[in-house]
Amino acid sequence: MRVRELGVLLRFAAQDLFRARQVAEPEVAVAQPVAHSAPGQASGRSLERAAGFSAAPLEEQRAAEEVKGFRIGGRARERLARRALREAEVVALERVPRVLHAARIVALHAIDRSQAFARRGSPIIRIPMKAKIRPIPKGRAVDPKALADVQQLLGDAPRRRDLLIEHLHRINDRFGHLPAAHLAALAQEMRLALAEVYEVATFYHHFEVVKEGKRPPPALTVRVCDSIACELAGARELLQLNLGPGVRVIPAPCVGRCEVAPCVHVGQNPVGNATADRVRAAVEQKQLDCPVAPYTGYDEYRRNGGYRLIAECLAGKHTREGLTKIMEDSALRGLGGAGFPAGRKWRLVAAEPEPRVMALNIDEGEPGTFKDRWYLEREPHRFLEGMLVAAWCAGVGEIWIYLRDEYAGCRQILEPSSKS
Ligand code: FES
Repeated sequence: MRVRELGVLLRFAAQDLFRARQVAEPEVAVAQPVAHSAPGQASGRSLERAAGFSAAPLEEQRAAEEVKGFRIGGRARERLARRALREAEVVALERVPRVLHAARIVALHAIDRSQAFARRGSPIIRIPMKAKIRPIPKGRAVDPKALADVQQLLGDAPRRRDLLIEHLHRINDRFGHLPAAHLAALAQEMRLALAEVYEVATFYHHFEVVKEGKRPPPALTVRVCDSIACELAGARELLQLNLGPGVRVIPAPCVGRCEVAPCVHVGQNPVGNATADRVRAAVEQKQLDCPVAPYTGYDEYRRNGGYRLIAECLAGKHTREGLTKIMEDSALRGLGGAGFPAGRKWRLVAAEPEPRVMALNIDEGEPGTFKDRWYLEREPHRFLEGMLVAAWCAGVGEIWIYLRDEYAGCRQILEPSSKS
């Protein structure tokens, strides 16, 4: 398609999606056969038949429909529209049989020169061109109903790629599993490759991907920890529980509550010192959420001197070197297994060029390890202040907190909507 036509199409896509399709159809139908025709070959009409192009679904239409879903305005919408339409053209060209690609090009005025080789006789489509942009990955077929579900679940939430896990949780919480159709819809909605969505969705055992045609799991999942502390405390018997239709009982690795073994998660509700009766009662009474125990709130923490240190740091009363030295002298070590000295870690990070990012890994999976949950449930602001001081010392500009799914109570405390 000529650049001029693409520009027209783009304008229409931004203003009138129906007209965009009307413009695209004849232009593409003409441009493709001409672009792939060879000297002495038959007319554009017969080439069109050979390519089966007229029977192919019009990619521009699909792109225009995507543009409609962008829900943004102004130049950003226009930019996305331009990219989608450019991609659509590439995909449309791919429909033309390869045998026609090698033919020499005639009527050069009729093709998109961005795809033309400088050297005559070369194929129009090149591998680098295909790899350049691909907003509609091959093989992806998005179910409109699934797409509508995903859009409704995501609402106004940003579609940033770093929110992928959050968005997967929304789908998982809604359906109790991850339908494959919704993963494809999510990939499209977030402009990600389907493989990227799949590799995250299949990594965590709390996410269960269910392919089309497969039976989804029961609505409620009861997870019985069968790691060593809980097994010693009688988890095996709990695994035999029959809690009726709509409830499945499955084993799970350490859920980070070894001090109350055996522990059973009914939905997100951790039932400590679990017995068959207690688990059954939680299921029958639909106690599926993680309760939040009383903890030291913001006001109380401030009254007792909380956040004073970070305020002094920001006010210039301490130096980074001074605090890092205190940490080094304290010989405090991480408890994640490596036992790396915390002060040295701060110093090493600070020596790296910017940008520096801090990741707090609260994914205690080893039996007997539940310290992070313990203090988060009781002293969340002490945790937050320590995090801020460490970030200040190391010159960190961005902090990520990774919290395991089983710590739903901690999440409630830490989420911005939490009032204290
Ligand atoms: S071993 Fe069961 S909660 Fe840790």
